[in-house]
Amino acid sequence: MQPINFAARRKRLMQWMGANSIAILPAASEKVRSRDVHYHFRQDSDFWYLTGFDEPETVAVLIPGRKHGEFIIFNREKDPLQETWHGKRLGQEGVMAELGADDAFPIADIDDILPGLMEGKERIYFELGVNPEFDQQILEWRNQLNNSATKAQNRPGEMIDLKHHLHEMRLIKTQAEIQRMRFAANASTKAHKALMQACEVGKTEQDMEAELQYHYAKNGCRYAAYPSIVAAGDNANILHYVENQSELCDGDLLLTDAGCEFEYYASDISRTIPINGKFSKPQALLYDLVLSAQLAAIKMVKPGNHWNDIHDKAVHLITQGLIDLKILKGSLQDNLKNETYKEFYMHKTGHWLGLDVHDVGDYQVHGEPRLLEVGMVLTVEPGIYIPQASKKVAKKWRGIGIRIEDDVLVTKKGCDVLSKAVPKSRHDIEKLMKG
Ligand code: GLY
Ligand code: MN
Ligand code: MN
Repeated sequence: MQPINFAARRKRLMQWMGANSIAILPAASEKVRSRDVHYHFRQDSDFWYLTGFDEPETVAVLIPGRKHGEFIIFNREKDPLQETWHGKRLGQEGVMAELGADDAFPIADIDDILPGLMEGKERIYFELGVNPEFDQQILEWRNQLNNSATKAQNRPGEMIDLKHHLHEMRLIKTQAEIQRMRFAANASTKAHKALMQACEVGKTEQDMEAELQYHYAKNGCRYAAYPSIVAAGDNANILHYVENQSELCDGDLLLTDAGCEFEYYASDISRTIPINGKFSKPQALLYDLVLSAQLAAIKMVKPGNHWNDIHDKAVHLITQGLIDLKILKGSLQDNLKNETYKEFYMHKTGHWLGLDVHDVGDYQVHGEPRLLEVGMVLTVEPGIYIPQASKKVAKKWRGIGIRIEDDVLVTKKGCDVLSKAVPKSRHDIEKLMKG
């Protein structure tokens, strides 16, 4: 696998920042789960993107053109006692040797050193509004320099939000990033297939979640990219259902929306399968409708198409299909205009995918839907949801929730579905479940 070139990312960002500027980025903080126990630490994606450093209590600073080095890190000092209890720390020498930092200082010294680095800079870049406490901290450092003792020419200048440009960089994936996303998608594929094979009436959603976690880990991905949604029967009509405790009942569908991450890069895959191994007639009709919408929407993924083309295609087909099945009444035009389909299909057809499962990057540019470009990765995930409580709808459709989701890379010729090896035709699903 190609290494990620963190230094090239920093260089590109600094070229955009221009001379006489500074960027300041904090790492994620550890979060308490209960008393002495923390949640597993997950680095902030922007911080990771620029540094590849996975410790908390760290601040990264970029100063284009600085004589003594452009990449500076403030981080925890080495501490034998803490390291005995909680794990190794790189310390200042470590971040210089292993991450290519030009300079490194203990985080405890940041108040003394950082204002000096900000002095006289015309522009201060940071991620406005992400971490209000850190915003306040930057203002305080800046105010220290704005006191009357600081010469006017040394006072720092305007404060500029870094997010937008950094997120535009993250939106277009390099080969090294795509390799990691393929790896994550492949591990998730194995997990979804194992789940299909293990699925059985009388087991539980939790049993199925265990299959996912086991196969992620066995295939090189320790962590899920988001809490797994394993939703049997009517539970599938809760879009982000994560309780995963119910029994798997004969005659119901099971919707699984789950993906692991590899070296911070996410996958995000949904499949809907019949718990007893065979789709009923109403399930099959709705399933084939969602699948046809998904396949048609995936066909819209190519350079030059608008982001909205994908959603519009899925909405058209699902709305027409719901009319054909007499779940909606009236003309296609009226149903589209009145958005009646939203009762059964209430979410968007996809989102960007990358270091975050709902990845960064604008969906509109100058008020227009964005054009797709080579190297973007997105999900395509239409669905139909008919809760048991939908008394207006004929009984046979109730309690069915279906979503089919794949991870799609925009390529020169069109697209490549990273998760294509997870069965999704009814025939292929039933065959795998039977086998
Ligand atoms: N897993 C959440 C989503 O599909 O967006
Ligand atoms: Mn999903
Ligand atoms: Mn998704």
